[in-house]
Formats: sequence, C-alpha cells, structure tokens
Amino acid sequence: MSITEIIRRKRDGGELSEAEIAAVVDGAASGSVADYQLSAFLMAVYFAGMTPGETALLTMAMARSGAVLDLSGTGALKVDKHSTGGVGDKVSLILAPIVASCGIAVPMISGRGLGHTGGTVDKLESIPGFRAMLSLEEVERQVAELGIAMAAQTEELAPADRRLYALRDVTATVESLPLITASILSKKFAENLDALVMDVKCGPAAFMRSETDARALAASIAEVAGANGLPCRTLITTMDAPLGRRIGNWHEVCESVRVLRGEEEPPLLMEVTLALAGEAIEAGGAAAPGEGAVRAREAIANGSAWQTFIRMVERQGGDVATLERAEEPPATLVVRSERPGWVAAIDSLRLGLLSIGLGAGRRAMNEAVAPEAGIVVHAHLGQEVRPGDPICSVVDRRGGGAIDPRAFRACFTVSDAPPLPPAMILQALR
Ligand code: URA
Repeated sequence: MSITEIIRRKRDGGELSEAEIAAVVDGAASGSVADYQLSAFLMAVYFAGMTPGETALLTMAMARSGAVLDLSGTGALKVDKHSTGGVGDKVSLILAPIVASCGIAVPMISGRGLGHTGGTVDKLESIPGFRAMLSLEEVERQVAELGIAMAAQTEELAPADRRLYALRDVTATVESLPLITASILSKKFAENLDALVMDVKCGPAAFMRSETDARALAASIAEVAGANGLPCRTLITTMDAPLGRRIGNWHEVCESVRVLRGEEEPPLLMEVTLALAGEAIEAGGAAAPGEGAVRAREAIANGSAWQTFIRMVERQGGDVATLERAEEPPATLVVRSERPGWVAAIDSLRLGLLSIGLGAGRRAMNEAVAPEAGIVVHAHLGQEVRPGDPICSVVDRRGGGAIDPRAFRACFTVSDAPPLPPAMILQALR
C-alpha cells in the first residue's frame, strides 16, 4: 500500500479504510515510514479531519501497536487520569498519589511537553535521579507492590503514538481532535484500566480554545473509550490563567510538594485537582458519589498522599532529600508591574511559549529541557498590584541573558477593577 497515496487521499478529504490506517500506524511503529511522510499525514489529518469511525480505528491501531500492561498482580481497581494539556498543569503530580493513597491502583503513563504545554514526565525527571523510563515489567511490579507508578511511554507501549506525538510537537499538528483522541486513548487502552478520568482543557491556553471544540473533543474521547469498553468520566475545565503559580518542570514539582504537604493551596489548581481526584476516587470505588473530593482533601490532610509520593519517588530512584527541600533556583529576572490595578487576565499561552524559550520545553524533537528553567507567577488572577510590585520572576537556562521583561509583562493585563473569579469546571460528563 502506497503511503503517498494514503496521504493524498486524506489530504483531499477522503475517508481512510482500516487497512490504510493500519499501514500508517504500523509504519510509524516499525520505523518503515519516514518522518517526513508521517508529518505530511499528520498535517493532512489536521486540515481534513477524520470521521468518528476513522478516529476509533486510528486509536485502536495505535493501542495495539505495542504491548499491553498486565496488571493482574494488583487486587485493586486501576484508574488513571489524563489531561489534554495545559500551562502550569501539575495536577497529575498531586492527583496520582492522592488516588493511590485511597487504595486505588494508578498505573500512570504520561507524556513529555507538547507544544506550549508541559509534560508530566519532564516534570518528574527534574527530580535528580528519577527514572521515568521504566520497563513494562517494572511498571507491573511497582503497581502490584506500591499501588502507583508514574512512567514515560516505553518503546513497548503504544510505540506508534510515541513517534507521532514527538512529530506533532514540532510540526504544529497538535490541535487536532482525532489526533488528540487517538494519542490519549491509545496509551490508556494499553494501560488496561478499569476506568479513566479525562481533563479536557478549554480556553486560550488549551489546544481546544472554544467550549464548542472542547465539548467535541470530550464527546470524541467518551465515544471511542465507551465503544471499546473503557468507562470514562470527563471534566471540561478552564485553561486560562496558569494552574498554580509555577510554570517549568522543577518549579512545578516544588509547588506540588507544597500542595501535597498541605503548605500551599493555590485556589485554581486546588479546585481542578480535587474535582478530578474526586472523580477518580469515586470511579475506583473508594468514595460514594459526590464524596470523592472530600476523600481527596483528607488524603492531603492526613499526610498519606505525600507519603505515597515519597515512596514512589524513592522506588523510581529519585533523590528524596532534594525533593523534600523543594528549593527553587534564584531568579534571572524579576518582572515588575508598571501600573496600579488588578490582574484581570494572564496570557498563559504566551507564558507557555516564553517558558520554552527559557529552556522549559523543546523547540526541536530531541532537544533537552532544562529542569530549572521556568516562571514563577507572583501576581495571580484578581490580585491587586502597585507600580514596582513583582508580577513574575523568570529563571532562564537558554536565553543567554537576552530576556526582554516587556514580553513577560505583556502577558499580564492590569485593569482598574478586579475581575470576576473564573469558573474552573465547565462541565462534567459521566
Ligand atoms: N496528551 C496526549 O497524550 N496526547 C495529546 O495529543 C494531547 C495531550
């Protein structure tokens, strides 16, 4: 089957057959189709879209492109949560140990940074020594013994997605409903879950900007998951201001540590995390309907979530002493407000893109990220500021001193009146 012909058919708006989709996916997994052809295929899908039937075929072909986790060694229900990607979105780091500490097995396979959004694996790897590249056997054993593993996709697990994901990141083909659906669900089917909780992000800093697009993505994920036997609960959440006060891998780990220890409660981050954790806890049978979020809060308050996180980091080789200190590097630059008022909007998309320039994300496929690069937001949404007040600090590891404070200041809109607090949970689909 000619790959060029398949690309042409998709480019011209045709509907691909199961065999044609399988040819692309098999070629991505085996390496027999070149990067340039896969990139052209992705761009064709980006523009021409896919029918729900094609999306389901793509998802299942990608899920079957590698091995599937055997979690029969764990007696608990297996639940995972996945997000479509946000800025400062460290929910997984906090949620996974909360849910596992409630007796639910969490085999979390995550991605690296994608476009302007961060990735859980890059964040975890900023902990010195932490090994996210676990073999399937290691994930299986760790989940059976500890109830939790947070790992990167190995060669064995949905390898077609691994390759396509990395190409999408650098070819501006992330924001595609069928590609996001297939990417996320292929990994989740390979995890062999009992239930999935999805966070579909919506807003200027999400891949789905409008609520209509976010609903369409949520429906697409629910349809493909449900049709293939995976119960899925979805929250559509606002991705406007950064979640929490930190953007950048090590900074986000430090913030998560403080949340897990109950030392900080950044309001937008807490609202989204507790809602999603609550769904996962209910789906895993550890709380009655409507009581999951309360159970999640208890897991922070009684220290069990933090202890679970420490045990997991230790087991995966991470330096627990450094984690416990949670020390952030000194700022390269402090950006200050030039006018008085209230922070009425924060352009998280631009902040996410600026953080890549600092070293927190990739500009090319195999570029290394700098764990310490990032942005600390001092002036959160709704905060009053005076001229000279710090609005954010920047830790640069790539810009080489050429950082322009105006670019960062422009991300913060300071108005004469305080804004209304944003609605974070827009819809729940169960
Ligand atoms: N997360 C994924 O795993 N894939 C996407 O396409 C977007 C978010």
